[in-house]
Amino acid sequence: MNIKTFAEISSSVVLAKLFNIKRPLAIRWALTYQCNQKCLYCGIPFKETFEIDTNTICKMIDNFASLGTKWISFSGGEPLLKNGLCKILKQAKSHNIFVSVSTNGALIPENLEAVKFADRIKLSLDGPEEINDPIKGKGVFKQTLAAIDLCRINKIPVSIDCVLSKFNLDSIDYLLNLAVEKCFKISFLPSSIRNPDRQNAGDFLPETIEYRKAIKHLIYQKKQGKPVINSIPALNHIYHWPEYRKIPCSMGLLSFNVEPNGVMGACIDKSYTCTEEDKTLNVNKIKEYLETIKVPVGCQECWCSAIIEFNLITSFNINAIINYLRNS
Ligand SMILES: C[S@@+](CC[C@H](N)C(=O)[O-])C[C@H]1O[C@@H](n2cnc3c(N)ncnc32)[C@H](O)[C@@H]1O
Ligand code: SF4
Ligand code: SF4
Repeated sequence: MNIKTFAEISSSVVLAKLFNIKRPLAIRWALTYQCNQKCLYCGIPFKETFEIDTNTICKMIDNFASLGTKWISFSGGEPLLKNGLCKILKQAKSHNIFVSVSTNGALIPENLEAVKFADRIKLSLDGPEEINDPIKGKGVFKQTLAAIDLCRINKIPVSIDCVLSKFNLDSIDYLLNLAVEKCFKISFLPSSIRNPDRQNAGDFLPETIEYRKAIKHLIYQKKQGKPVINSIPALNHIYHWPEYRKIPCSMGLLSFNVEPNGVMGACIDKSYTCTEEDKTLNVNKIKEYLETIKVPVGCQECWCSAIIEFNLITSFNINAIINYLRNS
């Protein structure tokens, strides 16, 4: 990150925190709810909505860029199923936006040219084959490892997200060793139990005592230099799951979500979403629209690792900032 970008980000954060001035620094964008997998704890592929087309998405990206967006995280559903993905990623990169794509990796071989535009590919893996595949589907472990290798060969930075459940607390060391062997970093998150998109997640919840032991172990491994993406303050935060726990929240102020139909909102996990549709095509409309989005109040269930880091960084948590700079 150069000094100019750093100064722009810092001033946006100060203006937002002191004077409530909204600035869409970071966008989490679900390009589609469709998916080619059916992971047992994920309800997203059962959601339905119409999808805006590539040209509309590119126009929105231009508008977000002119409002100061620095990070876009494309996800889904499975974003590699979205037609026009290459054009979408190129458009974001033309504005020098840091672009990450969360994907199950199955379609990377046929989308290699597109994913080369991403600054980071985030894949999902929950443990060795015998743990991962009963949750995520037969053959998914091998498919994910092949995707990691393909990204490495093509010099595309890759990281892994692991959802902690009652089935994989013993797999943490396996995953960390794999990460060292294959040169990637890994982020851990507990399941978002009360999220309506995650209907079956309740069947996967670990015992609180076992879960907290695992997080303590992760904190220890992080301090030993293992490639854990989560910062120490973020690990301390998720240690308290599933109890309610507050975190300074920047959603609806510095960070926004976009749904496949173009609707913008404050937070997927809490569904603080505007219902009015398609005010997306000009920058003033987007600005007006962002103003109508309510900043979530009183939420105490922030469990998504990337959102936690963003919330900590934008509240000037020094450890989280140093950790982010080390990871990037
Ligand atoms: C919803 S997926 C979308 C991107 C892509 N399809 C994938 O699987 O990586 C993004 C991340 O959410 C995680 N996820 C799915 N269900 C979850 C749940 N119940 N709690 C926490 N994370 C979950 C997935 O494992 C994945 O790492
Ligand atoms: S976690 Fe990703 S791959 Fe699995 S069902 Fe959900 S969207 Fe699809
Ligand atoms: S989960 Fe809650 S605290 Fe976290 S970003 Fe969303 S609204 Fe804010």
